[in-house]
Amino acid sequence: EDLVREGRIAGKRVFIRADLNVPQDDAGHITEDTRIRASVPCIRLALDAGAAVMVTSHLGRPTEGEFKPADSLAPVAKRLAELLGRPVELRSNWVGGVQVAPGQVVLLENCRLNKGEKKNDEALARKLAALCDVFVHDAFGTAHRAEASTYGIAAFAPVACAGPLLAAEIDAINTALAKPKRPLVAIVAGSKVSTKLSILEALAKNVDQLIVGGGIANTFMLAAGLPIGKSLAEPDLVPAAKAVIAAMQARGAAVPIPVDVVTGKRFAADAEATVKPAAEVAADDLILDIGPQTAAQLAAQLKAAGTIVWNGPMGVFEFEAFSHGTEVVARAIAASSAFSIAGGGDTLAAIAKYGIEKDVGYISTGGGAFLEVLEGKTLPAFEILGRRAA
Ligand code: 3PG
Repeated sequence: EDLVREGRIAGKRVFIRADLNVPQDDAGHITEDTRIRASVPCIRLALDAGAAVMVTSHLGRPTEGEFKPADSLAPVAKRLAELLGRPVELRSNWVGGVQVAPGQVVLLENCRLNKGEKKNDEALARKLAALCDVFVHDAFGTAHRAEASTYGIAAFAPVACAGPLLAAEIDAINTALAKPKRPLVAIVAGSKVSTKLSILEALAKNVDQLIVGGGIANTFMLAAGLPIGKSLAEPDLVPAAKAVIAAMQARGAAVPIPVDVVTGKRFAADAEATVKPAAEVAADDLILDIGPQTAAQLAAQLKAAGTIVWNGPMGVFEFEAFSHGTEVVARAIAASSAFSIAGGGDTLAAIAKYGIEKDVGYISTGGGAFLEVLEGKTLPAFEILGRRAA
Protein backbone atom coordinates (compact mmCIF):
# COMPACT_ATOMS: atom_id res chain seq x y z
CA GLU A 1 0.00 0.00 0.00
CA ASP A 2 2.87 2.39 0.79
CA LEU A 3 4.50 1.58 -2.56
CA VAL A 4 1.24 2.35 -4.36
CA ARG A 5 0.92 5.67 -2.50
CA GLU A 6 4.50 6.52 -3.39
CA GLY A 7 3.75 5.77 -7.07
CA ARG A 8 6.39 3.00 -7.22
CA ILE A 9 4.17 0.32 -8.76
CA ALA A 10 3.02 1.68 -12.15
CA GLY A 11 4.52 -0.34 -15.03
CA LYS A 12 6.38 -2.61 -12.60
CA ARG A 13 6.37 -6.43 -12.67
CA VAL A 14 4.73 -7.37 -9.38
CA PHE A 15 4.89 -10.97 -8.12
CA ILE A 16 2.24 -11.73 -5.49
CA ARG A 17 2.53 -14.89 -3.38
CA ALA A 18 -0.99 -15.62 -2.16
CA ASP A 19 -2.37 -18.62 -0.28
CA LEU A 20 -5.04 -19.98 -2.63
CA ASN A 21 -4.83 -23.46 -1.10
CA VAL A 22 -8.60 -24.03 -0.90
CA PRO A 23 -10.59 -27.23 -0.31
CA GLN A 24 -12.12 -28.98 -3.33
CA ASP A 25 -14.52 -31.91 -3.67
CA ASP A 26 -13.70 -35.07 -5.64
CA ALA A 27 -15.01 -33.48 -8.83
CA GLY A 28 -12.57 -30.56 -8.44
CA HIS A 29 -15.16 -27.97 -7.37
CA ILE A 30 -14.02 -25.44 -4.79
CA THR A 31 -16.06 -26.03 -1.62
CA GLU A 32 -14.88 -22.95 0.31
CA ASP A 33 -13.33 -19.85 -1.29
CA THR A 34 -12.50 -17.54 1.63
CA ARG A 35 -8.79 -17.51 0.82
CA ILE A 36 -9.43 -16.60 -2.82
CA ARG A 37 -11.72 -13.75 -1.79
CA ALA A 38 -9.13 -12.59 0.75
CA SER A 39 -6.49 -12.38 -2.00
CA VAL A 40 -8.52 -10.00 -4.16
CA PRO A 41 -7.75 -6.63 -2.47
CA CYS A 42 -3.98 -7.05 -2.97
CA ILE A 43 -4.36 -8.07 -6.62
CA ARG A 44 -6.79 -5.20 -7.30
CA LEU A 45 -4.47 -2.72 -5.61
CA ALA A 46 -1.56 -3.75 -7.86
CA LEU A 47 -3.70 -3.80 -11.03
CA ASP A 48 -5.28 -0.41 -10.30
CA ALA A 49 -1.80 1.00 -9.77
CA GLY A 50 -0.85 -0.12 -13.30
CA ALA A 51 1.39 -3.09 -12.46
CA ALA A 52 1.96 -6.20 -14.57
CA VAL A 53 0.71 -8.74 -12.05
CA MET A 54 1.79 -12.33 -11.50
CA VAL A 55 0.10 -14.34 -8.75
CA THR A 56 1.05 -17.77 -7.52
CA SER A 57 0.14 -20.18 -4.73
CA HIS A 58 0.61 -23.77 -3.74
CA LEU A 59 -2.33 -26.15 -3.83
CA GLY A 60 -2.09 -29.23 -1.63
CA ARG A 61 1.17 -31.10 -1.27
CA PRO A 62 2.04 -32.36 -4.78
CA THR A 63 5.19 -34.24 -5.74
CA GLU A 64 7.66 -31.74 -7.20
CA GLY A 65 8.17 -32.11 -10.92
CA GLU A 66 5.21 -34.48 -11.35
CA PHE A 67 2.12 -32.70 -12.66
CA LYS A 68 -1.23 -34.37 -11.99
CA PRO A 69 -4.49 -32.62 -13.06
CA ALA A 70 -5.72 -32.58 -9.45
CA ASP A 71 -2.71 -30.35 -8.55
CA SER A 72 -3.73 -27.64 -11.01
CA LEU A 73 -4.80 -24.15 -9.97
CA ALA A 74 -7.23 -24.12 -12.97
CA PRO A 75 -10.39 -24.07 -10.76
CA VAL A 76 -8.80 -21.26 -8.71
CA ALA A 77 -8.05 -19.24 -11.88
CA LYS A 78 -11.71 -19.52 -12.86
CA ARG A 79 -12.97 -18.40 -9.43
CA LEU A 80 -10.44 -15.58 -9.24
CA ALA A 81 -11.51 -14.34 -12.68
CA GLU A 82 -15.15 -14.25 -11.50
CA LEU A 83 -14.20 -12.31 -8.38
CA LEU A 84 -11.98 -9.84 -10.23
CA GLY A 85 -14.41 -9.50 -13.12
CA ARG A 86 -11.62 -9.90 -15.66
CA PRO A 87 -9.79 -12.80 -17.37
CA VAL A 88 -7.10 -14.61 -15.37
CA GLU A 89 -4.89 -16.71 -17.61
CA LEU A 90 -3.22 -19.74 -16.02
CA ARG A 91 0.44 -20.19 -17.04
CA SER A 92 2.41 -23.42 -16.64
CA ASN A 93 6.21 -23.89 -16.86
CA TRP A 94 6.71 -20.29 -15.84
CA VAL A 95 9.98 -20.30 -13.92
CA GLY A 96 12.04 -19.37 -17.02
CA GLY A 97 10.02 -16.23 -17.81
CA VAL A 98 6.52 -14.73 -17.78
CA GLN A 99 5.01 -12.45 -20.42
CA VAL A 100 2.56 -10.10 -18.74
CA ALA A 101 1.53 -6.55 -19.63
CA PRO A 102 0.82 -3.65 -17.25
CA GLY A 103 -2.82 -3.84 -16.16
CA GLN A 104 -2.90 -7.61 -16.82
CA VAL A 105 -2.98 -10.42 -14.23
CA VAL A 106 -1.82 -14.00 -14.77
CA LEU A 107 -1.93 -16.93 -12.36
CA LEU A 108 1.22 -19.04 -12.25
CA GLU A 109 0.55 -22.77 -11.86
CA ASN A 110 0.96 -24.49 -8.46
CA CYS A 111 4.38 -23.31 -7.24
CA ARG A 112 4.96 -26.55 -5.31
CA LEU A 113 5.37 -28.33 -8.66
CA ASN A 114 8.68 -26.47 -9.08
CA LYS A 115 11.69 -28.54 -8.07
CA GLY A 116 13.31 -27.05 -4.98
CA GLU A 117 10.22 -25.10 -3.82
CA LYS A 118 9.70 -26.91 -0.51
CA LYS A 119 13.35 -26.90 0.51
CA ASN A 120 13.77 -23.24 -0.45
CA ASP A 121 16.42 -24.01 -3.06
CA GLU A 122 18.54 -20.91 -3.65
CA ALA A 123 18.85 -21.30 -7.44
CA LEU A 124 15.05 -21.57 -7.75
CA ALA A 125 14.49 -18.62 -5.41
CA ARG A 126 16.86 -16.46 -7.51
CA LYS A 127 14.98 -17.42 -10.70
CA LEU A 128 11.66 -16.46 -9.10
CA ALA A 129 13.12 -13.19 -7.87
CA ALA A 130 14.37 -12.42 -11.42
CA LEU A 131 10.77 -12.51 -12.70
CA CYS A 132 9.80 -9.37 -10.80
CA ASP A 133 10.62 -5.84 -9.71
CA VAL A 134 8.52 -6.12 -6.57
CA PHE A 135 7.71 -9.23 -4.51
CA VAL A 136 4.57 -9.03 -2.37
CA HIS A 137 4.03 -11.64 0.35
CA ASP A 138 0.29 -11.80 0.98
CA ALA A 139 0.03 -15.50 1.89
CA PHE A 140 -0.66 -15.45 5.63
CA GLY A 141 -1.78 -19.10 5.52
CA THR A 142 1.73 -20.02 4.35
CA ALA A 143 3.64 -17.48 6.47
CA HIS A 144 4.98 -20.31 8.69
CA ARG A 145 6.73 -21.98 5.75
CA ALA A 146 10.16 -21.01 4.44
CA GLU A 147 9.90 -22.11 0.81
CA ALA A 148 11.33 -20.67 -2.42
CA SER A 149 8.18 -18.70 -3.30
CA THR A 150 7.61 -17.44 0.25
CA TYR A 151 11.08 -16.97 1.73
CA GLY A 152 13.95 -17.28 -0.77
CA ILE A 153 12.29 -14.94 -3.26
CA ALA A 154 11.81 -12.36 -0.49
CA ALA A 155 15.54 -12.41 0.13
CA PHE A 156 16.55 -11.85 -3.52
CA ALA A 157 13.77 -9.75 -5.15
CA PRO A 158 14.76 -6.08 -5.81
CA VAL A 159 11.95 -4.99 -3.43
CA ALA A 160 10.05 -7.25 -1.01
CA CYS A 161 7.09 -6.23 1.11
CA ALA A 162 3.97 -7.47 2.90
CA GLY A 163 0.59 -7.35 1.18
CA PRO A 164 -2.57 -6.00 2.84
CA LEU A 165 -3.82 -9.42 4.00
CA LEU A 166 -0.52 -10.35 5.66
CA ALA A 167 -0.48 -6.95 7.38
CA ALA A 168 -4.12 -7.17 8.51
CA GLU A 169 -3.65 -10.65 9.96
CA ILE A 170 -0.65 -9.71 12.08
CA ASP A 171 -2.29 -6.45 13.18
CA ALA A 172 -5.37 -8.37 14.38
CA ILE A 173 -3.27 -10.90 16.26
CA ASN A 174 -1.18 -8.16 17.87
CA THR A 175 -4.33 -6.31 18.90
CA ALA A 176 -5.52 -9.51 20.60
CA LEU A 177 -2.31 -10.71 22.20
CA ALA A 178 0.20 -7.88 22.49
CA LYS A 179 -2.06 -5.02 23.55
CA PRO A 180 -5.28 -6.73 24.61
CA LYS A 181 -8.20 -5.06 26.29
CA ARG A 182 -8.61 -7.24 29.40
CA PRO A 183 -9.89 -9.63 30.50
CA LEU A 184 -8.25 -11.63 27.70
CA VAL A 185 -10.00 -14.97 27.24
CA ALA A 186 -8.59 -17.72 25.01
CA ILE A 187 -10.44 -20.82 23.88
CA VAL A 188 -8.16 -23.67 22.90
CA ALA A 189 -10.11 -26.73 21.92
CA GLY A 190 -9.72 -29.68 19.63
CA SER A 191 -8.94 -33.34 19.97
CA LYS A 192 -5.40 -33.46 21.34
CA VAL A 193 -3.34 -31.64 23.96
CA SER A 194 -0.18 -32.85 22.20
CA THR A 195 -0.86 -30.81 19.04
CA LYS A 196 -1.59 -27.64 21.02
CA LEU A 197 0.60 -27.95 24.13
CA SER A 198 3.00 -25.17 23.14
CA ILE A 199 0.01 -22.87 22.49
CA LEU A 200 -1.48 -23.68 25.90
CA GLU A 201 1.92 -23.02 27.56
CA ALA A 202 2.41 -19.72 25.71
CA LEU A 203 -1.12 -18.48 26.42
CA ALA A 204 -0.85 -19.51 30.10
CA LYS A 205 1.68 -16.65 30.45
CA ASN A 206 -0.68 -14.04 29.04
CA VAL A 207 -4.42 -14.76 29.19
CA ASP A 208 -6.82 -14.20 32.09
CA GLN A 209 -9.03 -17.21 31.30
CA LEU A 210 -7.91 -20.27 29.36
CA ILE A 211 -10.98 -22.21 28.25
CA VAL A 212 -10.28 -25.75 27.07
CA GLY A 213 -12.68 -27.89 25.04
CA GLY A 214 -12.98 -31.14 23.10
CA GLY A 215 -10.48 -33.93 23.78
CA ILE A 216 -8.14 -31.31 25.27
CA ALA A 217 -10.70 -30.66 28.04
CA ASN A 218 -10.87 -34.41 28.77
CA THR A 219 -7.15 -34.50 29.55
CA PHE A 220 -7.60 -31.42 31.79
CA MET A 221 -10.53 -33.17 33.54
CA LEU A 222 -8.21 -36.12 34.25
CA ALA A 223 -5.68 -33.64 35.64
CA ALA A 224 -8.42 -32.30 37.94
CA GLY A 225 -9.12 -35.85 39.19
CA LEU A 226 -12.43 -36.29 37.34
CA PRO A 227 -13.59 -39.53 35.69
CA ILE A 228 -13.75 -39.48 31.86
CA GLY A 229 -14.77 -43.07 31.04
CA LYS A 230 -13.70 -44.11 27.54
CA SER A 231 -13.35 -40.51 26.30
CA LEU A 232 -10.54 -39.45 24.00
CA ALA A 233 -7.64 -38.19 26.16
CA GLU A 234 -3.87 -38.33 26.53
CA PRO A 235 -3.13 -39.60 30.06
CA ASP A 236 0.64 -39.14 29.53
CA LEU A 237 0.01 -35.41 29.17
CA VAL A 238 -1.77 -35.05 32.52
CA PRO A 239 1.42 -33.65 34.14
CA ALA A 240 1.67 -31.08 31.30
CA ALA A 241 -1.99 -30.12 31.83
CA LYS A 242 -1.37 -29.78 35.59
CA ALA A 243 1.59 -27.51 34.86
CA VAL A 244 -0.59 -25.27 32.65
CA ILE A 245 -3.24 -25.06 35.41
CA ALA A 246 -0.54 -24.25 38.00
CA ALA A 247 1.01 -21.57 35.77
CA MET A 248 -2.38 -19.93 35.35
CA GLN A 249 -3.21 -20.14 39.07
CA ALA A 250 0.17 -18.61 39.98
CA ARG A 251 -0.87 -15.52 38.00
CA GLY A 252 -4.33 -15.42 39.57
CA ALA A 253 -5.81 -16.63 36.28
CA ALA A 254 -7.98 -19.69 35.70
CA VAL A 255 -8.59 -22.74 33.53
CA PRO A 256 -12.32 -23.49 33.95
CA ILE A 257 -12.91 -27.26 34.12
CA PRO A 258 -16.34 -28.48 32.89
CA VAL A 259 -18.89 -28.99 35.69
CA ASP A 260 -21.24 -30.98 33.45
CA VAL A 261 -20.89 -32.82 30.15
CA VAL A 262 -22.92 -34.49 27.39
CA THR A 263 -22.05 -38.15 26.99
CA GLY A 264 -22.87 -40.91 24.54
CA LYS A 265 -22.10 -44.63 24.51
CA ARG A 266 -20.89 -44.54 20.89
CA PHE A 267 -19.11 -41.99 18.66
CA ALA A 268 -22.03 -41.56 16.25
CA ALA A 269 -24.48 -38.87 15.16
CA ASP A 270 -27.42 -40.98 16.36
CA ALA A 271 -25.89 -41.94 19.72
CA GLU A 272 -28.20 -41.11 22.62
CA ALA A 273 -27.03 -37.92 24.35
CA THR A 274 -27.10 -37.79 28.16
CA VAL A 275 -26.31 -34.70 30.24
CA LYS A 276 -24.60 -35.48 33.54
CA PRO A 277 -22.44 -33.82 36.20
CA ALA A 278 -18.71 -34.13 35.39
CA ALA A 279 -18.14 -36.20 38.54
CA GLU A 280 -20.66 -38.83 37.40
CA VAL A 281 -19.18 -39.90 34.05
CA ALA A 282 -19.45 -43.73 33.84
CA ALA A 283 -16.71 -46.14 32.80
CA ASP A 284 -18.35 -46.82 29.40
CA ASP A 285 -19.20 -43.14 28.64
CA LEU A 286 -17.72 -40.99 25.89
CA ILE A 287 -17.72 -37.25 26.64
CA LEU A 288 -18.81 -35.62 23.35
CA ASP A 289 -19.70 -32.07 24.44
CA ILE A 290 -19.68 -29.72 27.42
CA GLY A 291 -22.94 -29.62 29.38
CA PRO A 292 -25.47 -26.74 29.48
CA GLN A 293 -24.35 -25.46 32.91
CA THR A 294 -20.71 -25.29 31.77
CA ALA A 295 -21.75 -23.65 28.48
CA ALA A 296 -23.76 -21.00 30.39
CA GLN A 297 -20.80 -20.27 32.71
CA LEU A 298 -18.43 -19.89 29.76
CA ALA A 299 -20.95 -17.67 27.94
CA ALA A 300 -21.03 -15.36 30.98
CA GLN A 301 -17.22 -15.16 31.01
CA LEU A 302 -17.14 -14.43 27.29
CA LYS A 303 -19.72 -11.69 27.76
CA ALA A 304 -17.46 -9.98 30.28
CA ALA A 305 -14.29 -10.38 28.16
CA GLY A 306 -12.38 -7.47 26.63
CA THR A 307 -10.62 -9.68 24.07
CA ILE A 308 -11.32 -13.24 22.87
CA VAL A 309 -9.01 -15.58 20.96
CA TRP A 310 -10.83 -18.65 19.63
CA ASN A 311 -9.42 -21.86 18.21
CA GLY A 312 -11.39 -25.07 18.23
CA PRO A 313 -14.94 -26.38 18.86
CA MET A 314 -16.08 -27.40 22.37
CA GLY A 315 -17.46 -30.77 21.31
CA VAL A 316 -18.37 -32.92 18.32
CA PHE A 317 -20.40 -30.12 16.72
CA GLU A 318 -20.82 -32.06 13.47
CA PHE A 319 -23.29 -34.29 15.41
CA GLU A 320 -26.45 -32.28 16.20
CA ALA A 321 -26.96 -33.87 19.64
CA PHE A 322 -23.42 -32.87 20.68
CA SER A 323 -23.28 -29.43 19.05
CA HIS A 324 -24.93 -27.26 21.73
CA GLY A 325 -21.76 -26.42 23.68
CA THR A 326 -20.02 -25.15 20.56
CA GLU A 327 -23.14 -23.25 19.50
CA VAL A 328 -23.60 -21.52 22.88
CA VAL A 329 -19.93 -20.51 22.96
CA ALA A 330 -20.02 -19.35 19.32
CA ARG A 331 -23.12 -17.24 19.92
CA ALA A 332 -21.62 -15.80 23.12
CA ILE A 333 -18.54 -14.72 21.16
CA ALA A 334 -20.77 -13.22 18.48
CA ALA A 335 -22.83 -11.32 21.08
CA SER A 336 -19.83 -10.14 23.12
CA SER A 337 -18.59 -6.58 22.74
CA ALA A 338 -15.02 -7.91 23.06
CA PHE A 339 -12.59 -7.80 20.13
CA SER A 340 -12.55 -11.41 18.93
CA ILE A 341 -10.20 -13.26 16.63
CA ALA A 342 -10.81 -16.80 15.39
CA GLY A 343 -8.78 -19.20 13.29
CA GLY A 344 -8.37 -22.83 12.27
CA GLY A 345 -10.37 -25.10 9.95
CA ASP A 346 -12.89 -26.49 12.48
CA THR A 347 -13.44 -23.06 14.01
CA LEU A 348 -14.21 -21.55 10.60
CA ALA A 349 -16.63 -24.43 9.93
CA ALA A 350 -18.42 -23.67 13.24
CA ILE A 351 -18.55 -19.94 12.39
CA ALA A 352 -20.09 -20.78 9.01
CA LYS A 353 -22.55 -23.28 10.55
CA TYR A 354 -23.94 -20.64 12.94
CA GLY A 355 -23.74 -17.80 10.41
CA ILE A 356 -21.77 -15.48 12.74
CA GLU A 357 -19.09 -14.37 10.24
CA LYS A 358 -20.01 -10.70 10.62
CA ASP A 359 -20.03 -10.84 14.42
CA VAL A 360 -16.46 -12.07 14.88
CA GLY A 361 -13.90 -9.25 14.99
CA TYR A 362 -11.36 -10.95 12.75
CA ILE A 363 -11.40 -14.36 11.04
CA SER A 364 -7.91 -15.56 10.19
CA THR A 365 -7.17 -17.28 6.87
CA GLY A 366 -4.35 -19.16 8.60
CA GLY A 367 -4.51 -22.75 9.82
CA GLY A 368 -1.03 -23.84 10.93
CA ALA A 369 0.22 -20.26 10.60
CA PHE A 370 -2.42 -18.95 13.03
CA LEU A 371 -1.52 -21.65 15.56
CA GLU A 372 2.21 -20.87 15.31
CA VAL A 373 1.56 -17.19 15.96
CA LEU A 374 -0.45 -18.16 19.06
CA GLU A 375 2.60 -20.12 20.19
CA GLY A 376 4.47 -16.83 20.16
CA LYS A 377 6.72 -17.77 17.24
CA THR A 378 8.04 -15.22 14.75
CA LEU A 379 7.00 -16.70 11.42
CA PRO A 380 9.56 -16.89 8.56
CA ALA A 381 7.50 -14.44 6.47
CA PHE A 382 7.76 -11.70 9.08
CA GLU A 383 11.39 -12.46 9.85
CA ILE A 384 12.56 -12.09 6.22
CA LEU A 385 10.35 -9.10 5.41
CA GLY A 386 11.52 -7.44 8.62
CA ARG A 387 15.13 -7.98 7.55
CA ARG A 388 14.44 -6.53 4.09
CA ALA A 389 12.77 -3.48 5.61
CA ALA A 390 15.64 -2.86 8.04
C1 3PG B 1 -2.63 -24.38 5.01
O1 3PG B 1 -3.62 -24.83 4.41
O2 3PG B 1 -2.51 -24.43 6.25
C2 3PG B 1 -1.59 -23.66 4.22
O3 3PG B 1 -2.00 -23.47 2.90
C3 3PG B 1 -0.25 -24.34 4.31
O4 3PG B 1 -0.27 -25.58 3.70
P1 3PG B 1 0.85 -26.66 4.05
O5 3PG B 1 0.57 -27.14 5.45
O6 3PG B 1 0.71 -27.75 3.02
O7 3PG B 1 2.19 -25.98 3.99
